[in-house]
This record gives sequence, C-alpha cells and structure tokens, in this order.
Amino acid sequence: MQVSQYFARDLFRDRTVFVTGGGSGINLGIARNFAALGANIALCGRTQERLDAAAEELRALGAKACPVAADVRDYAALEAAFARSRAELGPMDVLVCGAAGNFLVPAEKLSANGFKTVVDIDLLGSFNASRAAFAQLKETKGVLIYISAGMAYMPHAYQVHVGAAKAGIDMMMRNLALEWGGYGIRVNSIVPGPIEGTEGMKRLASPEAKQAIIDAVPLRRMGTVDDIGQTAVFLASPLASYISGCVVVCDGGANLAGSGQFNAGAERMLQKMAMQATRS
Ligand code: COA
Ligand code: NAP
Repeated sequence: MQVSQYFARDLFRDRTVFVTGGGSGINLGIARNFAALGANIALCGRTQERLDAAAEELRALGAKACPVAADVRDYAALEAAFARSRAELGPMDVLVCGAAGNFLVPAEKLSANGFKTVVDIDLLGSFNASRAAFAQLKETKGVLIYISAGMAYMPHAYQVHVGAAKAGIDMMMRNLALEWGGYGIRVNSIVPGPIEGTEGMKRLASPEAKQAIIDAVPLRRMGTVDDIGQTAVFLASPLASYISGCVVVCDGGANLAGSGQFNAGAERMLQKMAMQATRS
C-alpha cells in the first residue's frame, strides 16, 4: 500500500483506530491504511459477517482487529462496542465516523421516515459515536474524523436528506473542535469525491456515466479508497497536529465544476429505474 512508502511503518503502532461503517468501501479502505502503519482496528456496522471478513483482511496486514456489530442509531450498542474495543485493543486514539446511508430520491417523493432514516444514521449516528467515544478520546488526546460529502455544502439533486445530514455533521465537527480542543482532541471532516468501486457510486451513478464523471473532475480520474485512507492517516498523524475544525476536500477538484454533471446523471438514473420498475 502506497501509504507505507511515505509514512513510517510504525506510525500508529499500539494505537487503536475505531471505524464506524468499517466493514466495506471507503471506511474499510481507511482502516486498511491505518493497519498498514501498525494500528489495531475496531470496526462496527450492522452485519457481523461483513465485519468478520473485513477483520480478516486487516489481520493479514498485521493488525489486531475487533469486529463488533452495532447500529450507530443505537447508543447503548455503541457504548458496548467501544467498551469491547477498549478491553481488546486499549483506549481509542482515533475515531472515524463513516457509517452512512444514501439513495437517490426526488424530495417530493421522499417520506418523512426516509429523510429521518438518513439523518439518524449519518448525523445522529455520528454524534452518538462521538459522544460515546469522548471519554476514551479525552484519555488519549485523540483524533475524531467524520466522513462527510460534497452534498454538505453544494446542493445536489435528489439528495435533500443527505445534504441536510452531512451539513449537520460538518457543523457538529466545528462545534466539537471548538469545545473539545481544550482536551487535546482534534476534530476534522473529510469530503470524498466520486470514489471508484464503492456502494455510494453504485447508488448515485450508473456505470455508463463513468466517463462523464471523469471528464468533470479537474484531475481527470475518479478517486480511490486509498486517496481517502491516505487523507485520514495524514489528519490523524502528528504532521496534522495543528489542524482542527477543518473540512478537508479530497475530490480531485470535482467540487469546482459544481453539481451539474451529477444532477444530469442522477436524473437519467432515476428515469432508468422508473422504466425498469414499470417493466417488472
Ligand atoms: N427511495 C425512497 N425512499 C427510500 C429508499 C429509496 N431508494 N430506500 C429506503 N427508503 C425509505 C423507506 O421507504 C423507509 O421509509 P417509509 O417507512 O416511509 O417507507 C425509510 O427510507 C427507511 O427504510 P428502511 O429500508 O427501513 O431503512 P434501513 O434502516 O433498513 O436502511 C437505508 C437504511 C435505507 C439507508 C439503506 O439503503 C441502507 O442500509 N444503506 C446502507 C448502505 C449505503 O447506503 N451505502 C452508501 C453510502 S454513501
Ligand atoms: P458503504 O460501503 O455502503 O459504507 C457504508 C457503511 O456503513 C457500510 O459498511 C454499512 O454496513 C455501514 N452502515 C450503514 N448503516 C449503518 C448503521 N445504521 N449502523 C452502523 N453501520 C452502518 O459506502 P461507501 O460508498 O464506501 O461510503 C462510505 C462513506 O463515504 C459514507 O459516509 C459516505 O457518505 C461517504 N462518501 C462516499 C462517496 C463515494 O463516492 N462512495 C462520496 C462521498 C462521501 P452495514 O450495511 O453492514 O451496516
């Protein structure tokens, strides 16, 4: 993994990193990058088998791993997961809040419960994890990282629920950076751009849209899970020891072009889904 060519391989040795939603995609990529630098990793998500498979991957990189099922909407379950991770791996040095849900839907068709569900997972779930981890992070003078999205600061069509949830996360990030800085806790958000091969991309863009997405990115490529993992590793490292309260955008410059390409692609994808639904 590229990260171990540029950072000391023992940078996070004996450190514990907890990743919510760590069983797949970008969050698992983040976990892998920390594991490659010596960290031990705890993961939660709703699906134990998925977490167990992720833990096996992390062990193959030399990490101790603690996969524990917990829904981030359930505060007591998170408290139990954090207690178990502490017992197995020691107090948490880094918490990555990456658990999220997403789907394309026009606002006028989104039910109140659909909106609430995404806000509950993304925003409330991130608060729940942060609050439940506070004592451990205070003890270690730890680092808190949220996985946000471009929808937090630029409107994207059919993403009213996600925009509201992620904007809330970024404001919570600033509040906690302000309040918890006094305990030595640093708090930042990462905004990934379009990341290849992820569930998020599968849900938000059809495979035919790939070239149009690439064309709209100033750096002319989609991101990788390692791009985000590397950003997280940097933010948790001593090299970032004076960085707190920031939204770090890792998107190849994609936000500079606005959300027009996304909106047009989302429109086509919804039309395609509607046609498929009519046929079946
Ligand atoms: N369009 C419109 N509404 C939708 C929807 C869609 N595609 N998918 C779910 N909903 C609505 C449901 O209809 C329900 O509302 P209702 O009770 O008024 O009918 C509400 O959202 C909750 O759905 P449910 O399936 O019970 O939620 P869940 O808690 O089991 O799952 C989701 C959460 C919906 C976010 C699910 O997509 C998920 O588990 N996602 C995780 C993976 C993911 O999204 N990855 C990408 C991250 S970027
Ligand atoms: P993903 O693989 O689906 O990751 C989401 C993870 O969250 C899954 O492992 C899922 O596991 C878990 N999860 C969902 N609901 C949960 C809940 N209630 N409690 C605990 N865990 C839960 O999707 P991804 O595309 O990699 O996205 C990862 C993060 O990056 C998200 O925060 C997303 O908003 C952000 N992001 C992604 C992109 C992109 O291009 N993909 C762009 C911008 C931002 P279970 O289903 O097993 O619970």
